[in-house]
Amino acid sequence: MAGKKKDELKELKIPGHVAIIMDGNGRWAKKRFLPRSAGHSAGSKTVEQICDDAWSLGIKYLTVYAFSTENWKRSESEIATLMDLLRKYMKNCLERSKKNNMRVRVIGDTSRLDEDLRESIQTLTRESAVNTGLTFTVALNYGGRDEIVRAFGKMLSDCSEGRLSAKDICEETVSKYLDTADMPDPDLVIRTSGEIRLSNFLPWQSAYSELYFTDVLWPDFDKKELIKAVEYYNKKDRRFGGRNEE
Ligand code: FPP
Repeated sequence: MAGKKKDELKELKIPGHVAIIMDGNGRWAKKRFLPRSAGHSAGSKTVEQICDDAWSLGIKYLTVYAFSTENWKRSESEIATLMDLLRKYMKNCLERSKKNNMRVRVIGDTSRLDEDLRESIQTLTRESAVNTGLTFTVALNYGGRDEIVRAFGKMLSDCSEGRLSAKDICEETVSKYLDTADMPDPDLVIRTSGEIRLSNFLPWQSAYSELYFTDVLWPDFDKKELIKAVEYYNKKDRRFGGRNEE
């Protein structure tokens, strides 16, 4: 049990929703004199393992930042590597999600993705929608500001067609128009590889999340590291701006 006794883990308060910025694939590869693609490939394996680990700890929602709206600025070959990995992942994940009862969702603007990838995403999300295990969400061509802009576009069009009235718009309405509608906000956001920023990941949803930063590079992130993040979360006193009752 990753160095922890079962009883010790039982005492931990488990965050319902954990969101992860998976950073450091490139540096992991560089340290090994390997191409960046090898880092992304190792990172992709870590994703599969961490889904199982998260569920075994009792985490119900796991969201990962796989490709940001800014990632299109990377070299053509790196983008192709990442898209191929995601393609493979979506195809293999169909079988895996059946076996481990995992529900898969994708957030972000998928309209810019190749048609075959969009189709795999649709098949996977449709077929896994009935599953009752971990809800695993992949942020793909995702940017938090872009998501908010798209939400406002949908709200404006609903207003002009009479489905929504401007005076009824409140925080809950905005949440419902985001890609993460029906999902709880993340309790804990983890970023690997030492950078201390959120990089446009779930800015609306993480307003009250605990933030955990670790120097561990994403391909090296494992269950032991996930437990460390959960332990950090346990030390925090979450008040959501209010006061704790004595
Ligand atoms: C950041 O590392 C990581 C990414 C931009 C991509 C994350 C993608 C994966 C882990 C693989 C595919 C995902 C799934 C869901 C199967 P970086 O390249 O910026 O690392 P560096 O900062 O060390 O260069």
